[in-house]
Amino acid sequence: MIDAALDPWLRQSADRYGTPCFVYFTAPIEARIAALDHAFGGRFDLSFAVKANPNPAMLAWLAPRIPLLDISSIGEMRLALRSGWDAARLSFTGPAKRDAELAEAIAAGIGELVVESPREAVAANAIARSMGRRQAVLIRINPDAVPRGFGDQMAGSPSPFGIDVEQTAEALPLILALPHLRVRGFHIYSGTQCLRADAVVENYRTFIALFRHLAEAHGLAPDKLVFGSGLGIPYHEGDTPIDLDAVVAGITPALDALRANPRFARTRLALELGRYLVGEAGYFVTRVVSIKESRGSRIALCDGGMNNHLPASGLFGMVIRRAYKMHKVGGEGPTEKVDVTGPLCTSIDRLAGGIDLPNLEPGDLIAVHNSGAYGLTASPMHFISHQPPVEVMVDAVAIRAIPRDWAAHCQPLPARLVDHDAA
Ligand SMILES: Cc1ncc(COP(=O)(O)O)c(C=O)c1O
Repeated sequence: MIDAALDPWLRQSADRYGTPCFVYFTAPIEARIAALDHAFGGRFDLSFAVKANPNPAMLAWLAPRIPLLDISSIGEMRLALRSGWDAARLSFTGPAKRDAELAEAIAAGIGELVVESPREAVAANAIARSMGRRQAVLIRINPDAVPRGFGDQMAGSPSPFGIDVEQTAEALPLILALPHLRVRGFHIYSGTQCLRADAVVENYRTFIALFRHLAEAHGLAPDKLVFGSGLGIPYHEGDTPIDLDAVVAGITPALDALRANPRFARTRLALELGRYLVGEAGYFVTRVVSIKESRGSRIALCDGGMNNHLPASGLFGMVIRRAYKMHKVGGEGPTEKVDVTGPLCTSIDRLAGGIDLPNLEPGDLIAVHNSGAYGLTASPMHFISHQPPVEVMVDAVAIRAIPRDWAAHCQPLPARLVDHDAA
């Protein structure tokens, strides 16, 4: 979809539901799911990382369209269950899960806990035992290298995520011996936001080599292996989208060779991803409240900024602050240089510095692209106590605001402590 075709929807969302607002279009997500399934020839089951966009209508819409969901907190699990997902289709990652979260997830019948340390495995084992259950788990492995080209690296250096590969020889026998856990396979997520196909392929090759080595070393025939996709999206002017065909061409022979090994003949492969699925399908729409000329700069002061969209301010793990792609809704004509800022009383609340946009006046709308993932969910929305922005979903039949029950999934966990030693 081109921006001009979207503008009526963006304007209608803003006028009907107010600004700032997030607008999510389902058509590009549907197209991306189909493109991934087609490109990989069904070799991967898709798993959506809820942290990228926990909007309940988004989760409900995805439920019949992809097989798996990855959650990182009990709040995300509650959202998923309330959005129609069966707990058996969920996996639970996260480096600092609390005992009460493990307990609620096990009680709900979660598909797999992704255990990230021997300590967590011991805790999960004790909790499963106290419930008279045997819980399926994946073991998250932290590789010792990540190729260059990833926006955020979670491995290859001291890292809170997963079990360092150097520690697996000691840690795995311990986990495998826990009687109330059933190890179904492994999970690796070592880097995000990569636009280079060669780097993604090299990374997946590292995963495959590790999966093979660990399965052989510990006599396992995994049911499931999770590949953290790392697939990035072009946030900034001049970014080149990742070449998915090149990723597929580069990795398919290695995937097929893995599956040809009898040890992996029954293994399901999952591709875990967030932004590549939904990021480009969302827009953040903010309205110009006022224009200020200040010391040679023209500044558009908007009703929503970093408080609603921290990543677009360049403060979400980016090395260099660069503006997200954005456009003036319904905007044409000659451009001029403008800074785009939000309502916060801090100089870091800036969505763009010196970008070219058609002449802006109070009341105009600016649409920030690539806002379908890590928008509201990754933002300090309580900063200056504005109302939460509205989220709007546009699908084949309707445009609608999605009500949010912010309190429901944040209900407190019981302060339940498990005596791991006694278990
Ligand atoms: C464990 C895990 N899975 C999936 C994701 C989704 O990443 P992305 O949105 O880059 O695909 C993340 C992101 O941090 C993650 O930590």
